[in-house]
Amino acid sequence: MSRLVSAKDMLNKALAGHYGVAQININNLEWTKAVLTTSQELKAPVILGVSEGAGKYMTGFKTVANMVEGMMESLDITVPVALHLDHGTYNGSVACINAGFSSIMFDGSSLPFEENLAKTTALVNACDVLGLSLEAEVGSIGGEEDGVIGMGECADPEECRKIASLGVTMLAAGIGNIHGVYPENWPGLRFDVLEKIRAATGDVPLVLHGGTGIPDEQVKKAITMGVSKVNVNTECQLVFAAATRQYIEEGKDLKGKGFDPRKVLAPGYEAIKEKVKEKFEVFGCVGKA
Ligand code: 13P
Repeated sequence: MSRLVSAKDMLNKALAGHYGVAQININNLEWTKAVLTTSQELKAPVILGVSEGAGKYMTGFKTVANMVEGMMESLDITVPVALHLDHGTYNGSVACINAGFSSIMFDGSSLPFEENLAKTTALVNACDVLGLSLEAEVGSIGGEEDGVIGMGECADPEECRKIASLGVTMLAAGIGNIHGVYPENWPGLRFDVLEKIRAATGDVPLVLHGGTGIPDEQVKKAITMGVSKVNVNTECQLVFAAATRQYIEEGKDLKGKGFDPRKVLAPGYEAIKEKVKEKFEVFGCVGKA
């Protein structure tokens, strides 16, 4: 019996309660343990994001699902946890359904819209039958906007309406957000576009990708406007790398048994926990489990 849950309930509660649930991407055992223990300590529901690349790195989706299930049992994790494919292809989505993931993101945003619609429809139906949640993504409007190019693109509200009406659990739609670190001259989130997407999609929880580096006040405002899930990946990688660098630069690996991997990775692990706590507090999901 799986301990994982679909993200549906947690997101609908977040939408009604005006807070955000965090999707924290995981990369290995330390990452997973850091996110699960922090969620349990802070009584926060959580979504573990796994990209196809991270899944491959961890030797396959089945390994990831078994690791998470095993860890939840060993650590007695009782808060709601969804294991979610991040930016999946169609084949990757099917593989994760078979591997025991409880939530799927099918990212058809780079496909022609009709193909995105058709493949999302097929996966909505499959996920419905199996009790899994499904996130869809609507493609971006490329090109120039107010003289700004490549500063985060915006989805077409009409396309959002069509995809939302398929019965997806949640919808990712660009509002000027981008993955990774934002350029210094990034103009910020497009709340005008978010408002139009919200109006076009009814009460489908919206997803804000690229959570790294968006000023807290902008994230909080987006949450008040219908964003119920915020994805964070790069920020945890940055603090993990910085803490590991400091450990090595201070020569701690050269003292005593400081070379033990459990010691080498400990500062990075603690840094991820701190970052996750900080994000939960900003998103308002502490105590919502
Ligand atoms: P960041 O790496 O910018 O935090 O984005 C994460 C994300 O959106 C994963 O889908």
